[in-house]
Order: sequence, then structure tokens, then C-alpha cells
Amino acid sequence: MARGELIKKLLESYGDENAFRAAAEVIISEEESKRNQLLAKALRRTLNNGMSGSKSSPNRHQTVSRKQEAKGLMPLASAPGIANEFLEEVDTAYSHKEVVLSAENKKIFSDLIVEFRASDKIEKTGLPLRSKLLFCGPPGCGKTMSAGVFAREIGLPLYVVKIDRLMSSFLGETATNIRKIFEFATKQPCILFLDEFDALARARDDASEHSELRRVVNSLLLFIDRLKIRGYLIAATNYEKSLDQAIWRRFDEIIWFEKPNFQMIDRFLKTRFKNARPDFSVHDYVHELDGYSYAELERVCIGALRNSVIQSRDHVSKFDFEKAWQNEERRRKNIAKR
Ligand SMILES: Nc1ncnc2c1ncn2[C@@H]1O[C@H](COP(=O)(O)OP(=O)(O)OP(=O)(O)O)[C@@H](O)[C@H]1O
Ligand SMILES: [Mg+2]
Repeated sequence: MARGELIKKLLESYGDENAFRAAAEVIISEEESKRNQLLAKALRRTLNNGMSGSKSSPNRHQTVSRKQEAKGLMPLASAPGIANEFLEEVDTAYSHKEVVLSAENKKIFSDLIVEFRASDKIEKTGLPLRSKLLFCGPPGCGKTMSAGVFAREIGLPLYVVKIDRLMSSFLGETATNIRKIFEFATKQPCILFLDEFDALARARDDASEHSELRRVVNSLLLFIDRLKIRGYLIAATNYEKSLDQAIWRRFDEIIWFEKPNFQMIDRFLKTRFKNARPDFSVHDYVHELDGYSYAELERVCIGALRNSVIQSRDHVSKFDFEKAWQNEERRRKNIAKR
């Protein structure tokens, strides 16, 4: 539609929220298709009434809400159109500086970003772009966080599939709904995020699975093969062993997120306490925290910061840190007993 027509439509829809949103979405989609990602993202944020809030506060731990702290992803809005029942647009509270990645993963992501920025050039040659990514690894090691940060870095909207809603759709409708979601993702540049992917892509030979799930996996394989997404499909799982064998080759890149080694624990603690002026050397605790996931480390750091606030200290003390660490140790022991 011509730009003038679009603006006319937008003004005419004043007072009619649905019509206004539809006209605005068309304008945003046009900007996205022209690859004006930053403008498109800013327009989308404005459209969503600034619900995303501030994302990069220098003292994030004090401004982040409980929900943000827990999930790292904040809802912006439901996806427009037919897929809105199963998709939610989200934004991340994190910047790339806060994600601690192995050298290997850092390289994979930076190469993907370079490739995305050169996508026009690559597409002109007829070569395919990598667009289907599988994130694997234990809980709390950065799969969801990295999906959010990657989306933010390349400026595409991130749509999270509501897997629970999808799986509980009427018997026989799951495959149809996956198709609708995939269709949505081919119409506009975006990242489609399938978290808990194992729930959908469980091995078909698993004796406990009924035939409905087998049908879903068959359709899913077919849909992934055919998917010509204008962005990325990212699937994430921490049960990669239960994935159907036929899933692996459908993905252009498989990225493993591991628990942090000593060096990465050190880096994580230093990043989190950058503005907290600890009166102890975080390095001394690196061996004690062996085996912790990033999510557990994060809880210790937030706990220590919280303790320092309670004590009205302007820095994190050894006492604040140890108290939070002991608390996490207790929690881990209790979970291990179950
Ligand atoms: N690599 C990392 N660098 C920095 N912080 C991290 C990293 N991984 C996880 N965290 C912290 O842990 C929290 C939870 O991480 P995330 O949600 O990405 O885990 P996940 O791998 O998706 O886990 P799950 O398999 O349970 O979904 C994040 O919000 C962040 O605070
Ligand atoms: Mg996750």
C-alpha cells in the first residue's frame, strides 16, 4: 500500500483500537520488509504503549521486576492475526554485555549476526541463509536469555510460542495450529521461539507416546523442512536426549549451552558485581561454586546485593555474599534430596 494511503488509514481509524493497530502493524511490517529494523522496533514499542520499559539500566538489579528477574523475557503484546492465541511477543531485560558465553558460542553468534547483516548480498547469489537454530543444554544456562539478546541485537521481534496452550489444543488440532504459527512467521521478519521444544519433538518410537503425538512430530518435521522464515526459528530444549533422531538435521546450527567453568564463573561474578564494589575477591569463591548453573549464580548475586541493601551498605560485603551463597547451598541440597 502507498505510504499516503497508509497514513490516511491510520488517521481514519482514530478511536477504533483494532483498526488503528491493524494500520500501524502494516506500517511496521513495511519498515521491517525494508529492513529498517531499528525504526520498526521503535514503532512497535510505541504502539505497545511503552510497555517494554527501560531495558538497560546501569543498576538493573534494583529496577528489574520480579517477573523480569524470573524469566528474563517480558511480554509486549500478542501476535496479530490468527496466531495470537499461541504467540506472545516478548522483549528481553538483558543486554549482550550481561550474557556470559563460551568463546565458541560467542563466535557462532557473532558470525550469525554478520551473516544476518549481509543477508541481502547472500540472498542475491541464491545461497541459503542459516535460519533454523537449536539451543541445547541444562536449565539456567542461557538458552532463553540468548534468544532474547540475539533478537535484540539483530532488531527482529521475538515471538514465543505458548507451547502449553498449543499442546492442550483439541485432539488433532495441534499440527494445524503449528502450521498457522509457521505461516505467521513466513509473513513478517521475526524470530519464532519454540521453548521446551522436546514437548513437541519427542521421539516417535517412545512407547509411552500415543499416536496423536506421533502425528504431531511427523507434521513438525515436514513444517520445519518447508519453513522459509524471514528471520529465525529458534528451538530450545534441556532434554535433547528425548528429541526424535530426525530433528537434528533439520537445524542449520546447534548451539550447546553448558554450565560455567571456573573462568566463566569468575567472569559472571565480576560482571554482576561491576557496580557493587565488593570488599572481597570474588575469585576466591570460584571453586566453591563449581557445578552451579548461571541461574543459580544469578540468585546468589541478587541475594548478596539484596543483603547489602538491607544493611544499608554502599557495597557488597563478604558477609552479604556468604549469606546468599549459604542460602543457595541449602536450596540445592533440598532439591537434590527429592
Ligand atoms: N550464559 C549466561 N550468562 C549470564 N547469565 C545467565 C546465563 N545463563 C543464564 N543466566 C541467568 O539465568 C537466568 C535463567 O537463564 P535462561 O532462562 O536463559 O535459562 P535456560 O537455559 O533457558 O533454562 P531452561 O532450560 O530452564 O529454560 C537468566 O535470566 C540469567 O539471569
Ligand atoms: Mg529457557
